[in-house]
Amino acid sequence: MSDMPNAPESKNAPKQIRLNLIFHTSGRHDASWKSFEDPTVLIDEIDHQVALAKRAEEAKFDAIFLPDTPAVLGSVFLRKPRRGLDPTVLLAAIAQHTQHLGLISTAPSIHGDPYLVARAIATLHQVSKGRAGWNVVTSQDDETHVALGKPVDQKLARETRYEKAEEFVQIVTGLWDSLPQEAIAGDKENDVYIDMSRTNPIDFQGKHYTSAGVPQMTGRYHGERPVLFQAGISAQSREFGAKYADVLFTSQPNIDLDRKYYAETKEHAARFGRNPNHVVVLPGLYAVVGDTEEEARRRKAEVDEQMDLGFLVGNLARQIGVPVEELDPNKPLPVHLFEQIPTDDEVIQYRRGNIGAEAMANNFTVKQLVHHNLTRGQRAIFGTPEQIADTIVEWVDTDVSDGFNINVDVQPAGVERFKDVISELQNRGRFHKDYEHGSFRQNYGLPPG
Ligand SMILES: Cc1cc2nc3c(=O)[nH]c(=O)nc-3n(C[C@H](O)[C@H](O)[C@H](O)COP(=O)(O)O)c2cc1C
Repeated sequence: MSDMPNAPESKNAPKQIRLNLIFHTSGRHDASWKSFEDPTVLIDEIDHQVALAKRAEEAKFDAIFLPDTPAVLGSVFLRKPRRGLDPTVLLAAIAQHTQHLGLISTAPSIHGDPYLVARAIATLHQVSKGRAGWNVVTSQDDETHVALGKPVDQKLARETRYEKAEEFVQIVTGLWDSLPQEAIAGDKENDVYIDMSRTNPIDFQGKHYTSAGVPQMTGRYHGERPVLFQAGISAQSREFGAKYADVLFTSQPNIDLDRKYYAETKEHAARFGRNPNHVVVLPGLYAVVGDTEEEARRRKAEVDEQMDLGFLVGNLARQIGVPVEELDPNKPLPVHLFEQIPTDDEVIQYRRGNIGAEAMANNFTVKQLVHHNLTRGQRAIFGTPEQIADTIVEWVDTDVSDGFNINVDVQPAGVERFKDVISELQNRGRFHKDYEHGSFRQNYGLPPG
């Protein structure tokens, strides 16, 4: 690979686009579960999950991505399927029914024990023969705190979260590297199974975490580490990702900020002495495919209408810190209230900025705004396979990203329709026609790690 940021892999070959499928049991749309005749199967039914994964592999997605939070039921999951099964265990089952698909699990880096995460992800890596990814998250929502027995009113400052995440990742990767294959001597004559002189024991004494020794497992498969993902928005998350992750998963409010994020991430990577091509940037993208653009938009509107409008408006009111009575679904967002009702809450300030600008730029009514925001910050596109392929290629060629984490509205129809986008990209030589290598890392053009 070239050392130039975003350079094509060879002079004549156009840059290959990376596409993962975000694995939502019924689809990304919050009302998608209503399209299932028996929605009760969506949560824990393993056959359903395996069938979805096989479809993703047939479509040739690079990987499936399982978002997760280890949390008790929050109010949102009373209205749509929760994220049920432990993602790493579920992916280990899926690994037995797929051959090539990358399998990205999510595990926190500010809660729990690095050793246990290292072991679980390394096990997935072995079980899947080199196809594991770990999405390193730094979230601290109330539901997770309740589930893990932590005080809800004691949240960490962002700096501390990333301080913890750094230590966590250093321990996990150190553990993965500590028992290399060559240390497994299997020397029958001398009665030596493990040759300790060839191991790399860790001795990590951090401010937040400590771990020492050599774990009873090999973290690499045929010399390759699991692929590290990092999901976040803030400057700290990008800095952290550019230092440690192979892939950054983000969602920026507009295309210009995506380009800025992309350029800065690659610059940071170079500053950390890494090849910028080996730090892949994949924002989320919500894609609804139709035979015509109108059909795609109609399809979105039909699913949107199945949502409870009162509930959506209530959520919006909480997000922007405005009394719900002030929000008339058929009128524009009353942005003048932001000044009349000041707030110290940075998250609310941030959302007011973004959501307010979006509502005004598009002249949205409150109803249009809440329907638009059902993708929760992920960029949405609607159109024919050709239109969507055009847009993806244009964005990749103008340094918005190296590809996307794709959300489909409703499973399995959304994936079936997205296959036509993939065919378009394949015909243009921009997406692999088949998996070219045995491991997830190699399919992504990444070094062993
Ligand atoms: C695109 C994206 C996907 C995320 N996925 C998850 C997830 O699956 N589970 C989770 O607990 N947090 C997830 N997060 C939350 C982040 O890990 C992080 O905690 C959050 O973005 C706040 O940190 P930040 O302000 O530094 O970005 C995600 C964030 C983004 C931007």
